[in-house]
Amino acid sequence: MIITVTNSKGGVGKSTMAVHLAAWLYEQGHSVILADCDTQQSSSEWIREAEPEIKAVRLDNPDVILDALPGLSQEADYVVADGPGSQTETSRALLLRADLAIVPVKASMLEVRALAKATDVLRQAQDIRKGLPRAVAVLSMVGLNYRLTQDMKDAAAALQLPLASKSMILRQIYADAPGQGAIVWQLGSRARDAANEIDSLFREILPEAAAKRVTLTRKLAKR
Ligand SMILES: Nc1ncnc2c1ncn2[C@@H]1O[C@H](COP(=O)(O)OP(=O)(O)O)[C@@H](O)[C@H]1O
Ligand SMILES: [Mg+2]
Repeated sequence: MIITVTNSKGGVGKSTMAVHLAAWLYEQGHSVILADCDTQQSSSEWIREAEPEIKAVRLDNPDVILDALPGLSQEADYVVADGPGSQTETSRALLLRADLAIVPVKASMLEVRALAKATDVLRQAQDIRKGLPRAVAVLSMVGLNYRLTQDMKDAAAALQLPLASKSMILRQIYADAPGQGAIVWQLGSRARDAANEIDSLFREILPEAAAKRVTLTRKLAKR
C-alpha cells in the first residue's frame, strides 16, 4: 500500500506526520519504506536516526516518483511518501500512484479555505482514477483546548474530504523530536500524551494496519 502525506502548503506538519506514520507502521510489525519526496530531505534523515531499520529513499522528481513507486510497493507492506511543500507536479505524481492520501491541515479557517485550492490536484487524480486515492484530512497543530467551530466543520464538508475525528495537538515535543533524532514514543514519559494521541489517530485512519495488541514497545525495549 502506498500512502502519501500531502498538502501543497509548507509547514503544516507533513514530514512530522510521515515520519511518525512510517515508524508506527513498523512498530505494528509491517515492513515499511519511507519515500522522501521533498527536496529538503528532512524526513529521510530523521527516520534514519529514529528507526534505522526502515529503508528510506529519496525520490526528488515526478518521473522518478511515477517510475519507482510501484516497484517499492512490491518490496514492503507500506510505502509512506512524504510530499513536498510546493512542487505541484511532484504532488501530482504521488497522487497518481498512492492508495491513500493523508492531508494535514492547520486548524484555522484561513487554512481550511486555502485547502480548497490545495486539493485541486487531489481531485484531478481522483477524477482520472475513478475515486482513488482515498483521502482524509487531519487537523494538525491544534490548540489543546481548541474546539472545531461549526464554520470549520462546514468548510471541511464543502471540500468533500473526510476529516479524521482525531487530530495532532500543537505540542513542543513534536518540534523537539527531530532534533533528538527520535519519534515521540521514544521520548519517555513527557511524550506520553503525544504518543497516545498519534497512536489513536493512525488507528482511526488505518484500522487494518493496527496490531492486535498495543506494541509501541518494540523500540522502547531496545533503548
Ligand atoms: N503537532 C505539532 N506541534 C508542534 N510543532 C509541530 C507539530 N507538527 C509539526 N511541528 C513543527 O512545525 C514545523 C513544520 O512541520 P513539518 O512536519 O516540517 O511540516 P511540513 O513537512 O508540512 O513542512 C516543524 O518545525 C515541526 O517540528
Ligand atoms: Mg516537510
